[in-house]
Amino acid sequence: MNTLLRGKDLITTQDWSMDQLETVFEVSRDLKRKFAQNEYTDHILRAQTLFMLFFEQSTRTRNSIEAGMTQLGGHAHDLTPEKLQISHGEVAIDTAKVLTRFGHGIAIRNCDYGIGNRYLQTVADNSEIPVINMQDDYYHPLQGLADLMTIREKLGDLRGVKVTISWAYATSHAKPLSVPQTQALLFSRYGMDLTFAYPPEFPLMDSFMNQARENAANSGGKLQITHDMDEAFEGAHIVIPKSWGGFMGVDDPLSEEGRARMKENLEKNKDWICDERRMALADPEAFYMHALPADRGNEVTDPVIDGPQSIVYDEAENRLHTAKAIMALTMGGRP
Ligand code: CP
Repeated sequence: MNTLLRGKDLITTQDWSMDQLETVFEVSRDLKRKFAQNEYTDHILRAQTLFMLFFEQSTRTRNSIEAGMTQLGGHAHDLTPEKLQISHGEVAIDTAKVLTRFGHGIAIRNCDYGIGNRYLQTVADNSEIPVINMQDDYYHPLQGLADLMTIREKLGDLRGVKVTISWAYATSHAKPLSVPQTQALLFSRYGMDLTFAYPPEFPLMDSFMNQARENAANSGGKLQITHDMDEAFEGAHIVIPKSWGGFMGVDDPLSEEGRARMKENLEKNKDWICDERRMALADPEAFYMHALPADRGNEVTDPVIDGPQSIVYDEAENRLHTAKAIMALTMGGRP
């Protein structure tokens, strides 16, 4: 167990050693057990403040962290740019330096493509209290940690577990690349047998997939890519079908032309849905996972997400326990 995490930022799990990650899982399990037993944990971050800054909407991340801070004895400020002078142009450096003087941690969600991660890095570089990534355009570490904890709870040893991470059609919004990219980086460190499936127009970022391949080579895992959703489901122990935006499949995703092309690419792939026929291709004991919110009827059918193989609410619950572990381990001190 590594007890030297006080003050450490969590921007991506790739910056955390295996020893540090195992500490997170150990503390998550301990906090989960205490929560189940109604044991108070409010001495851990008593009177501490976390500033949560949301540039986008959230159900799981916002509420797991705010509830988590209460359970740990502290308080989380629920902030948006409109509540701050960010709406009048205050820059990340000034926001970071001021919040550092007031509290014990800063957590940010900014998924704006090409902007979010840069914003987080700037805050991290200019704050002396830990910065926690609540999702950006590249990474969603809190989701990845909860996912891995859930898979472990269901299957135990992760070595050789066949996990399929697939693109799926959705009309709700162009979801960030951050969930599958985080799963690629994190799961590949645990010797898992990973298959990524997506239409050719929806690739993930090369640098992330190359890093994930290197991780897999070091951990004795595997990583392959296919453009056939059926093939990817065959024999899988875990399936994680979820939409992500086609940012990497067009020349300039932020231009009007790029957005129009992304929409065209999306509409060509409506048949990428997780339904009962596809679930039957997977291992008979396979689990269905989704970070949520799911686009029901597009990404997944109701019988699958509401069915016996679905573990989406166990996965969502673990967002609370893993977020509490990250806060308990990284906050708690002043520079
Ligand atoms: N999975 C996830 O991050 O959910 P929210 O967008 O509701 O926080």
